[in-house]
Amino acid sequence: MKSMMSGTFPFYRPRRLRQTNELRAMVRESHLRKEQLVLPLFVTEGTQKRVPVPSMPGVFQLSIDELLAETRSAWETGVRAILLFGIPDHKDEKGSSAYDPEGITQRAVRALRKEFPDLIIITDVCLCEYTSHGHCGMIRKTPWGRTFVDNDSTLEILAQTALSHVMAGADIVAPSDMMDGRIGAIRKTLDDAGFTDAVIMSYAAKYASAFYGPFRDAADSAPKFGDRRAYQMDPANAEEALREVAMDIEEGADIVMVKPGLAYLDILNRVKNTFHYPTAVYMVSGEYAMIKAAGEKGWIDEDRIMMESHLSMVRAGADIIITYAAPSICKMLNNKK
Ligand code: PBG
Repeated sequence: MKSMMSGTFPFYRPRRLRQTNELRAMVRESHLRKEQLVLPLFVTEGTQKRVPVPSMPGVFQLSIDELLAETRSAWETGVRAILLFGIPDHKDEKGSSAYDPEGITQRAVRALRKEFPDLIIITDVCLCEYTSHGHCGMIRKTPWGRTFVDNDSTLEILAQTALSHVMAGADIVAPSDMMDGRIGAIRKTLDDAGFTDAVIMSYAAKYASAFYGPFRDAADSAPKFGDRRAYQMDPANAEEALREVAMDIEEGADIVMVKPGLAYLDILNRVKNTFHYPTAVYMVSGEYAMIKAAGEKGWIDEDRIMMESHLSMVRAGADIIITYAAPSICKMLNNKK
C-alpha cells in the first residue's frame, strides 16, 4: 500500500472512478431502496380529522378515514410499510385501551388490512400513549415512597396489546417500551395463541433521547412526571446495546432496531456487524424536525440532506429505515434518472 500511495505519480488514483455520473454509479457501494422504508403514522378518533403536528411539517394526527387516504398516497409513491401509533381518547393508570379489541389501533389495523392486503402493517406496542401518567409501564411505589415503573407487571399488558394487534391483522409488532423480558413474554403469548408466524421487530437499543421531543407532542405521550431514563438506555453506552440486542434475539425477535439514528450510527454499525440480523434504524421526530426546520429557513438543501442522511444509515448497516420522510424519499428515488 505504501509504495502505491507515495511518489509523484501514484498508481491508485481514486478520482479516476469519480469522473462521470455513470462511473460513480457503477462503483457505488450503498443504495437506498424504497422497499427499505417504513412510514410512521398517527391515528386518532373521529372522522375527517387531519391535525398537523407543528414541529413536524408534513406529519398529521389522522382519523381512520384520513389514515386510509394518507396510506393510499404513500403507497402510490412506493411506500410498502407503515408503523402505526394509536392516540386513544381514553387514558387510565393501566393503559387499558392499549389492548382493547375495539381500541383505536385495532380498528385502524382492521381498516388498513381490508383496504391494503399487501401493505406491511407494523404496530408500535407501548403503553405511554394509553396511560394517564404517560409512562411506558405500570407505576408503583417502593415501601419508602419512591415512584418507579414496574417491569414485570407491565409484561402481561404488553403481550396482550401485541396479541390484539396481530389478531386485528398486523404483520409485525414493534415493542418500544424497553421493559426487560418483553420480547420473550410477547413471543410466548403469540405462540400460545397460535400466531407463530407473527414477526417481532424489537426496539432493542432504544436510548433515553431528547430527539423524541416532537413525537411526544404528536402522540400526546410525554410523561407527566419524571423521565424515561430508568427504562430507556443511557446515551453514553454502546456495549450495553449489544447485550440488549443479544437478549432480544434470544427471546425471539426477528428484527432488531437501533433508535435514534444519526447520533447512533456507531451503534447501528456494531449491531449489524455483530449479529448479522435484519436491522432497523429509526430516524426519529427530532432528527426529522431539525432537517425540516433548517430546510424551511433555507439554511440547508433539505432534499439533499434527507437523501444523504438516509444513505448514511444504509452505509452504516441498516436494512430497514423508519422515517417520516418515506414518501418524499420515494418521490426523489422515482424522479432519479
Ligand atoms: C413510544 C415511542 C416513542 C417513540 C417511538 N415509540 C417515544 C418515547 O419513547 O418517548 C419516538 C419516535 C420519534 O421520536 O419519532 N415509547
